[in-house]
Amino acid sequence: MEKFVRAGVRQLVPYQTKHMPECIKLDANENPFPWPAEMQEALFKQKLAFNRYPDGMGQELKARIGKYTETSPEGILIGNGSDELIQLLLLTFGGLGKSLVVHPPTFSMYEIYARLTETTVVQVPLLNGLDLDTKQMLKVAQVPEAHLMIICNPNNPTGSLFPKEEILRLVRESGKIVIVDEAYAEFSEETLIPEIKNFPNLVIMRTFSKAFGMAGLRLGYLLGQPKTIALINKVRPPFNVNSFSQRAGILALDYLSMYQEQIQQIKAETQKLQEALTMLPNLTVYPTRANFILFKPEDPDQWASELLKRGFLVRNMGMLPSLGKCLRISAGLPEENESFIQAVREISNGMK
Ligand SMILES: Cc1ncc(COP(=O)(O)O)c(C=O)c1O
Repeated sequence: MEKFVRAGVRQLVPYQTKHMPECIKLDANENPFPWPAEMQEALFKQKLAFNRYPDGMGQELKARIGKYTETSPEGILIGNGSDELIQLLLLTFGGLGKSLVVHPPTFSMYEIYARLTETTVVQVPLLNGLDLDTKQMLKVAQVPEAHLMIICNPNNPTGSLFPKEEILRLVRESGKIVIVDEAYAEFSEETLIPEIKNFPNLVIMRTFSKAFGMAGLRLGYLLGQPKTIALINKVRPPFNVNSFSQRAGILALDYLSMYQEQIQQIKAETQKLQEALTMLPNLTVYPTRANFILFKPEDPDQWASELLKRGFLVRNMGMLPSLGKCLRISAGLPEENESFIQAVREISNGMK
């Protein structure tokens, strides 16, 4: 049957996801705090017409997101997680003969959806694996085929936060569609949202999966000028976000102050983990502005397996440009982080 498969799909290796509920999960940059019982009850108590299609326009949710982000609902597009939004962006602006500029190491789904939409990927590696090469990105974006670029800020997996001015320079000088993936912006507390009004080519992508602890419900959104959002809306499936997730998003925003406390706690936990890792010998720890940390022990594969033996699931990033083999962990619950710190000390001692 392979001969019937599109060329771009034939070469794809399916995205590997790990489901190991028995482990302490530090591999997916999620919010480790479960939804409080009171919030879950409030969600389940709502009367939802499951026999009816959801509100395809997501009006109530968009009104709430608009309030949260201080943008107008016409400049919002909701999606079934950012994953779907990346796909919609490439369906709108990419395609055969067009190219997408990315800055590896970064989130792998950009390239996967580029391939699925037959969009050429132009890689401009981060300088020293950490900093934007703005000049080179502008250079490669000059050709007419270059239609879009995606900046991940803070960047997954490095945790780097790029200077606003550099990103704005890309937006201003390239004139191409510049997508800024702000999946972790609630942790970095920096955003380019206020710049949307100045640039029709700036699109910001956000998710409820990280700070809002809704990875299991799949909800994300794009922010842009209404005319730009209207273009992307042409390719959006009419009922792409289910009723339950829409209600959950609205409810999460009702509990904003609780999340703000959680975010501060997660930031403090990330810092605690960072300090503990920095104390270990023969290990490089990269600075982070997100809820995860990239680090490079001498033998990352052995570290990953030692951690797994002790019940910790971490992300083995494999070979990253300029940085080599690294591991990435996200901040867990305080008690999980305590036992993780003990485990890494033990592993490090064992390797002396
Ligand atoms: C940078 C970045 N963007 C987007 C996503 C995907 O988010 P979602 O759960 O909304 O699909 C992730 C998930 O890890 C991510 O790291």
